[in-house]
Amino acid sequence: MSRPRVLSGVQPTGALHLGNWLGAIRNWVDLQHSHDTYFCVVDLHAITVPHDASRLAEDTLTTAALYLACGIDPERSTVFVQSQVPAHSELAWLLNCVTPLNWLERMIQFKEKALRQGDQVSVGLLDYPVLMAADILLYDADLVPVGEDQKQHLELARDIAQQRINARFAPRGSDGEPEPILKVPAPLILRDGARVMSLTDGRSKMSKSDPNEGSRITLLDPPELITRKIKRAKTDAALGLEFGNPERPEADNLLGLYALLSGKDRDTAAQECAAMGWGKFKPMLAEATCEALRPVQERYQQWRQDPGALKAVLEQGRLRADAVAQITLERVRRALGFLPVGR
Ligand code: TRP
Repeated sequence: MSRPRVLSGVQPTGALHLGNWLGAIRNWVDLQHSHDTYFCVVDLHAITVPHDASRLAEDTLTTAALYLACGIDPERSTVFVQSQVPAHSELAWLLNCVTPLNWLERMIQFKEKALRQGDQVSVGLLDYPVLMAADILLYDADLVPVGEDQKQHLELARDIAQQRINARFAPRGSDGEPEPILKVPAPLILRDGARVMSLTDGRSKMSKSDPNEGSRITLLDPPELITRKIKRAKTDAALGLEFGNPERPEADNLLGLYALLSGKDRDTAAQECAAMGWGKFKPMLAEATCEALRPVQERYQQWRQDPGALKAVLEQGRLRADAVAQITLERVRRALGFLPVGR
């Protein structure tokens, strides 16, 4: 029996942080044992906002190396760079032509990002979710691990596949039933307790786009910087850490981080810190964070010191991904009535 297929990706903008690791990539690592896993670095998505051309390639390699350093195993997973598989751009165009404009105009993330950018907004930013739909649909993914903020995009991918491609273009099989062209993917809601919040505001998510670097710990921050960021993290006036007090989002977040990073279960961590002052807790959290990141940083350095090995992983991933993607793209081209190549 074949395993259900999973696809996910992260943009190569800025270093990955604790939120990306604990909330997403750590789950990908587990999925490798039970699912057929595809993980891409979505560099085409990174240019939907103004980007620095001199850094794109380097950032793409950094992100790929971090996937591997976090435990993505190229023998188990297909790891690849989105722009190196041209079918992503091609399918995105085909899907563009069947996607109603107002489906995109109502995307929450588009509205938020567009507001921040004023008249810099590109067509690509509006089109971002269609490209993401292409990423997913090309691989016949059964499941897509997504956080809350991407659920609307996944819903859009489902609607495009079902209503705009399958319902309109599916050919009839020999039994007279329509044969779906695209598989309709389902969201894989990740286990909870891993929504990492900003260090400077326990009510907003840790984010790459927060202009304050002190709000996040990246996977490549050296120990001194980690310690400093945690020292400056927002606290409150109460003594003792606790989970679930709505008045104390920072305590909840930092205690949760401590539990995850030290490998203790939440009850144990809560008991240990129930009467502890911030002055004692913070160095402990800093220590646990540095310890947890040390092996990731070591493996990262090993991959970066061996560019040939990293390129080989990405080339193998590209070939595997391309083979799968071509088959789906061809199915869509045929269903939409294009003249086959070579006729
Ligand atoms: N939009 C996703 C994010 O910002 C990244 C992404 C692009 C993605 N293509 C994808 C995630 C396909 C899952 C599947 O997190």
